[in-house]
Amino acid sequence: MTRPLPSTFHVKSFGCQMNVYDGARMGELLEAQGLSEADAADAELVVLNTCHIREKAAEKVYSDIGRLARRDGGRPMIAVAGCVAQAEGAEVPRRAHAVDVVVGPQAYHNLPALIAEAAKGRPAIDTGMPAASKFDALPGRRAGNPGAFLTVQEGCDKFCTYCVVPYTRGAEISRPWAAILDEAKALVDGGAREITLLGQNVNAWTGEDETGRAQGLDGLIRALDRLPGLARIRYTTSHPNDMSDGLIAAHGDVASLMPFLHLPVQAGSDRILKAMNRNHDVAAYLRLIDRVRAVRPDIAVSGDFIVGFPGETETEFEETLAVVRAANYAQAFSFKYSPRTGTPAATMADQVPGAVADERLQQLQALLAEQQYAFNRATVGRRCEILIERSGKREGQRLGKSPWLQSVLVDGGAIGDLITVDITSAGPASLMGERPARAAA
Ligand code: SAH
Ligand code: SF4
Ligand code: F3S
Repeated sequence: MTRPLPSTFHVKSFGCQMNVYDGARMGELLEAQGLSEADAADAELVVLNTCHIREKAAEKVYSDIGRLARRDGGRPMIAVAGCVAQAEGAEVPRRAHAVDVVVGPQAYHNLPALIAEAAKGRPAIDTGMPAASKFDALPGRRAGNPGAFLTVQEGCDKFCTYCVVPYTRGAEISRPWAAILDEAKALVDGGAREITLLGQNVNAWTGEDETGRAQGLDGLIRALDRLPGLARIRYTTSHPNDMSDGLIAAHGDVASLMPFLHLPVQAGSDRILKAMNRNHDVAAYLRLIDRVRAVRPDIAVSGDFIVGFPGETETEFEETLAVVRAANYAQAFSFKYSPRTGTPAATMADQVPGAVADERLQQLQALLAEQQYAFNRATVGRRCEILIERSGKREGQRLGKSPWLQSVLVDGGAIGDLITVDITSAGPASLMGERPARAAA
């Protein structure tokens, strides 16, 4: 059955920050085609930008499709984008008939053509991973939030044995130096004060500067530091094996590089790290943290953890708790291992029973929450700058981000302002700040 071309759209992104970035770029692309943004409740096209990392995330999209198919006032055209689209391809519309378009993370610049094809009444699918960069085919950046994301690197060649990302995002590629600097400038012109450089392995970024000299992520950060109007730089996610001397040094002397490092270790047992194919041991990881702290003592360290990896014993899990105590995190994400079809770990012997993994996750999360609260309390009494990102719940209240990526509530200030505050109190997940008497005048 043919259907009219949609004139309104809504993009819903799940998963990592790179998906949030892709979602924004799809929105810009659709706007450039003359579509306007609408709520999920009445948009004529809904793009579900999906995540495949754990089973729960991947299954969620099917309940969302079901809900959209039964939507009051008629079902929208449904496009499934992101990592589930890449992993399942034509299987998606076979399983969920309401799906009109399937588009992978490296093909979404073709979205307008796919929509036109789907309007003729048959599902349109593109999960190609072309050599040509989709970025060249996307329109320019529109004005946005004070904190912006900028993808500089995509894909992963690491093949950790539990992980789908090398399959859903493809091989590691780095975007060119000039394209990144141009996009950063456009973001700053559109109101961004802070840019977070993104990549599945962002610190594996390599390129050549305008003189043809080889550069790593630290060189790119130094170039961005010179960009007028850009006050803050962050980057995520890093792999320990790509933490170069230059990048560590940058944390000591680049003023706009924020004191925050997301450096996942996943587990605290060398045997498990080996089975995960992480290619480093616990000691090497802790040495990196020490070196970063030596040049930037106040740095907030964050990480990712998986509990219940196949074969993980109680003693090995306790080694994870020990590495958490040694590294002392400002915040962290922790997950129960989820077997993913097609990855080597899914068929390993000794899968850990769910109830055991649940119990370990609870213990780990209690320890991480304790550390986060302690880190927050240690900022009380400090004076720092916050970047105001949005309004708070109360009238006149604003929410900003500290250099250490904590949420800070304060009275007054406009969105996009960098203001000085004194941290007056801390909760488990956020801080309260006050503008110093003189600064408030
Ligand atoms: N490239 C990044 C992060 C990729 S995915 C890195 O290597 O650190 C984000 C996090 O999801 C991972 O760090 C890992 O902790 C978690 N994760 C990945 N696959 C998983 C799985 N099969 N089960 C549970 N957690 C997983
Ligand atoms: Fe996945 Fe490992 Fe690559 Fe991170 S480094 S994306 S965990 S395979
Ligand atoms: Fe998920 Fe794909 Fe990101 S699997 S975490 S959306 S790279």
